[in-house]
Amino acid sequence: MKNFTSVKDVSDIKYLINKGLEFKKNPLKNAYQGKNKTLCMLFMNPSLRTRLSTQKAAYNLGMNVININLNSDSWKLEMEDGTIMNFDTQEHIKDAIKVISTYCDIISIRSFPELKNRSIDGEDKILKSFLKYADIPVISLESNTLHPLQSLTDMMILTEMKTIRKPKVVLTWAPHPKAVPQVVANSFAEWTNEMDVDFVITHPKGFELDEQFMHNATIEYNQDKALENADFVYVKSWTSTENYGQVSDLHSDWTITKEKMKLTDNAYVMHCLPVRRNVEVTDEVLDHPSSLIYHQVKLREFAAQAVLSEILTNGNN
Ligand code: CP
Repeated sequence: MKNFTSVKDVSDIKYLINKGLEFKKNPLKNAYQGKNKTLCMLFMNPSLRTRLSTQKAAYNLGMNVININLNSDSWKLEMEDGTIMNFDTQEHIKDAIKVISTYCDIISIRSFPELKNRSIDGEDKILKSFLKYADIPVISLESNTLHPLQSLTDMMILTEMKTIRKPKVVLTWAPHPKAVPQVVANSFAEWTNEMDVDFVITHPKGFELDEQFMHNATIEYNQDKALENADFVYVKSWTSTENYGQVSDLHSDWTITKEKMKLTDNAYVMHCLPVRRNVEVTDEVLDHPSSLIYHQVKLREFAAQAVLSEILTNGNN
């Protein structure tokens, strides 16, 4: 694996999931694999879990880590090619990426969609610039379209926690006071479609996710019906597609509550966090023993470790 930006970069998903689960058993089993190698972590947006888990994963492999908040720690970047840079941008992204490639061995980047224009967000220009100009492997820490480290983690959870051969996995939209990206939901769909599960996505009309990631998923507009006999309920809010980037009516009847969970087959509850408690999901569901939210947090470390280890092994082939 040279880069890690989507499930499409992974030739053997099962192998990568199992590699992550092996690191969970023994985090320091390859403690010197990354000795004298440097991971650069670039953030254009806030992060708690991705920042902590990826840095910890790199340390588990003996790597050095350089962490940069691109908007505050470095020069203001110009993203467009061919621009006459006589306004406020100070360094072209092409030059910045070449500089980072000089000092580091793996580059990782988090960007965030602007939530103004769905098709412009879908172009994922920042990640594509990194793939175009980097001389070293690139890892997405979440892009304008996908969040592969979160999704690999979620697939590790489905693999580890399933009690039947083909569980029913429900991705449900949830209310949120802000317009939030479709990224995690699209990414979860992209990866879940590679798993041997019965996959149902439920959301109000007008919140349709990106067709290219839906494959065989069943779309069910009735949330109660979707939740029936579910084994896993993945809760996530995302912005309306019809009114992209705008705050929608709260649809408070879509909040995942203890009563809604009674429709399921004692399902586990998942959420990538951060979560708006008592808006997306109630406290009693999030704090119930069937909630996997902190288990997801822990496995983020080993998902990142599996990816880093694979790239350290094969990234320059
Ligand atoms: N789930 C997730 O990616 O969290 P952060 O945005 O805090 O990294």
